[in-house]
Amino acid sequence: MSRLVELEEQGPRKLDPSDIDDEKGDVAVCQCGLSESFPFCDGSHRRTRDEDEGTTYVYEDGERQEVERVVTDADDEE
Ligand code: FES
Repeated sequence: MSRLVELEEQGPRKLDPSDIDDEKGDVAVCQCGLSESFPFCDGSHRRTRDEDEGTTYVYEDGERQEVERVVTDADDEE
């Protein structure tokens, strides 16, 4: 099984101080989907900084490619 997820965020969500573990310290949750430590942010979102609005990208094996919108079986049902 594989899964494509469309994400538009370009940075993490920092948790409230009450959510932070005293031993782990500052924790941010990845919202871009590129983190190698998902669900935690590892700074990989920096790769999205020069993305163009309205363009769809696929990140695979460290490479970024622009693609036409991904069409799924669900789109055919509409
Ligand atoms: S938000 Fe995804 S790596 Fe930081």
